[in-house]
Amino acid sequence: MTAILELQHVSKTIRGKRIVDDVSFTVNAGEVFGFLGPNGAGKTSTIRMMVGLSELTSGDLSISGHSIRSAYSEAIKQVGVIIENPEMYNHLTARKNMIHFARMNGEVNHERINQLIDLVGLSKVINRKVKTFSLGMKQRLGIAQALIHRPKLLILDEPTNGLDPEGIRLVRTYLRRLAKEERLAVLVSSHLMSEMELMCDRFAIIQEGKMVHEETLIDSEANKRMTYRIRVNHIYDDQAFSLMKTYDEQTQKNEDSFTLSLHKDQIASFIRHLSAEIDVQEVSIVKDSLEERFLHLTNKEGVKP
Ligand SMILES: Nc1ncnc2c1ncn2[C@@H]1O[C@H](COP(=O)(O)OP(=O)(O)O)[C@@H](O)[C@H]1O
Ligand SMILES: [Mg+2]
Repeated sequence: MTAILELQHVSKTIRGKRIVDDVSFTVNAGEVFGFLGPNGAGKTSTIRMMVGLSELTSGDLSISGHSIRSAYSEAIKQVGVIIENPEMYNHLTARKNMIHFARMNGEVNHERINQLIDLVGLSKVINRKVKTFSLGMKQRLGIAQALIHRPKLLILDEPTNGLDPEGIRLVRTYLRRLAKEERLAVLVSSHLMSEMELMCDRFAIIQEGKMVHEETLIDSEANKRMTYRIRVNHIYDDQAFSLMKTYDEQTQKNEDSFTLSLHKDQIASFIRHLSAEIDVQEVSIVKDSLEERFLHLTNKEGVKP
């Protein structure tokens, strides 16, 4: 594992009040790290120190091994950040915004722009004016902008604030993808545990300036999958089977039903998709034990008597 962001005993005191108190953690390349805590806990104050917007009172903080205190410019080169809302020009298209941003950061590389726009799922709307974008689309364009100079660390302060569930789902999907495909270290702050569970590989909880908990979500991908039994009107069997196979290649056809494994993220759209075309008669959760999941994934039915 390559440590990208390292906080060592970071503290911040403002006018005699300790608002960040001895916080230490590490974020590695390729992982999404959740920085969780209620409002006023000190998340934004800590993030401001990470990006050089405020000084540390004590402790040290380094990015790719460069201390923000003694090697500021080296450290900051490695960071892409969005605090609150991303800045962009509403009357310009997404592409023009990206070009403008790239120019401010040095050179304009159209290939890189296209690649990033694709990574955040905005290719189809790249020539639309940003004023027609939803908040979630703007958030994703902001992420693409923050990555234009190829940072190793992406920091997002409450990126899902104000987004609807679909917007949250998309931000989550794309952040996970970026962490994997670009080997980015991603730090996301939030006050909602429910969001973090699905988004993060690890998380830390901060309360009244102090870190009170750190956890790795072991086996997290497996925990998000479940097996479903679906029964449809028989005249739709073939159509249903091929549709299900687009969601899960290993969909099984049983005597009067189908079983398939779905990610929690997929369920809503799967049901919508299926019931739009097919007379669905029953949907139920079948099995959720690790062993059953394993059998399903390896496409074995176990030992038959
Ligand atoms: N510049 C400041 N001066 C004094 N107090 C501050 C300042 N910035 C933040 N605080 C206080 O520090 C605490 C943490 O705030 P903040 O970092 O914004 O929390 P969070 O982002 O977790 O909601 C709060 O009690 C806030 O009032
Ligand atoms: Mg905040």
